[in-house]
Amino acid sequence: MHPFQSFCRDELTRMKDEGRYRSFAALNKSRQQFPRYTDAQGRVITVWSSNDYLGLGGSDVLAEAAIAAVREHGVGSGGTRNISGNTPAHEALERELASLHGKQAALVFTSGYVANQAALGTILASMGGNWHVFSDAKNHNSMIAGMKNARAKTIFRHNDAAHLDALLAAAEPGVNKLVAFESVYSMDGDIAPLAELAEICRKHGALSYLDEVHAVGMYGATGAGVAERDGVAERIDIIQGTLAKAFGCHGGYVAGDAEIIDYLRSAAAGFIFTTSLPPALAAAALASVRHVKQATELRARHAEGARKLKDAFRAVGIEPMPSVSHIVPVMVGEAALCREVSRLMLEDHGLYVTPINYPTVPRGTERLRFTPTPRHNDAEIAFAAQALASVFRKVGLLRAADDAA
Ligand SMILES: Cc1ncc(COP(=O)(O)O)c(C=O)c1O
Repeated sequence: MHPFQSFCRDELTRMKDEGRYRSFAALNKSRQQFPRYTDAQGRVITVWSSNDYLGLGGSDVLAEAAIAAVREHGVGSGGTRNISGNTPAHEALERELASLHGKQAALVFTSGYVANQAALGTILASMGGNWHVFSDAKNHNSMIAGMKNARAKTIFRHNDAAHLDALLAAAEPGVNKLVAFESVYSMDGDIAPLAELAEICRKHGALSYLDEVHAVGMYGATGAGVAERDGVAERIDIIQGTLAKAFGCHGGYVAGDAEIIDYLRSAAAGFIFTTSLPPALAAAALASVRHVKQATELRARHAEGARKLKDAFRAVGIEPMPSVSHIVPVMVGEAALCREVSRLMLEDHGLYVTPINYPTVPRGTERLRFTPTPRHNDAEIAFAAQALASVFRKVGLLRAADDAA
């Protein structure tokens, strides 16, 4: 046996002992019934943890665009964008995304993760690597991966504009500065002070890089994200997003100045050396972005659902974490218990909600992460709150006396 095999065995045992071994939920997604899935026994399970935030993944708008593109182009793209993997849908999608964010150009990658890793990695390797990157303490793993080889990296306190300001002021003169942050932080549901951060970046001549993965489609008049909602998109240099969450599709992108995007197109290994997004996904994403731009009513219903879910939890004596977005996290605080609560929600009540454990969140802050969609109805919201209260009582997280219901 190679030592690596015994290493793996020990690590897996440790993960299991700590209650953070990950297993997949064997649930079958139905296009028509979303967010109601079925399990292996055919039991209907309502899913409360999908990132298909607006429930568009199964919509006719996307499905028909994808099916038409499969019929026309086939399934795989057959190459990188530079080697026969380009279609008019890829180019139209990039124009649409640029226009959505009010930027000169956009570039599509095979996922949001790859977009962050490749774009940040390429920028920070440019100009002889003479960069100092400033990263929010809660930035996503994909951004951290992109900043891994940065010559200088400083972490600023989460959403703390004054701290960032002080750190930038102390940076070595003559170095190129980049500040990377998100808008909606998906594990806590808090939102960054974008106007302040953009202003500070400008003041110190730093390039601003904003991940709007959990906000595109859902915030702003045309769904361009929190930067649009807050009227600051024009002051952010590079906006990164995904097509895989509210847009219900797949892929990721960056949008910004035409020359920056053209440089990334010409230099980012994660763009150049991989097969392009399948044409059906490019076509479906294009249809989705166009649809979502005018889906004001859907966005309003979505926000209303999140508000109702938070209220429903409070009504049964459970205070959700202080989220100001559509994400509704509920603290459990211990990995094994978090997994157990999730298991009981599924087994006793037919509800699926993902336990979020270390290393996704710090130890001791393990939580359940609810993401309501406009397709969860009022009865399902009330049922989810009652079910969670019942499970919380069963595991001792809620005393009968705490239950306001
Ligand atoms: C903040 C953030 N950025 C990027 C990504 C990666 O996006 P994708 O799922 O499209 O790879 C995620 C994924 O959840 C994310 O949470």
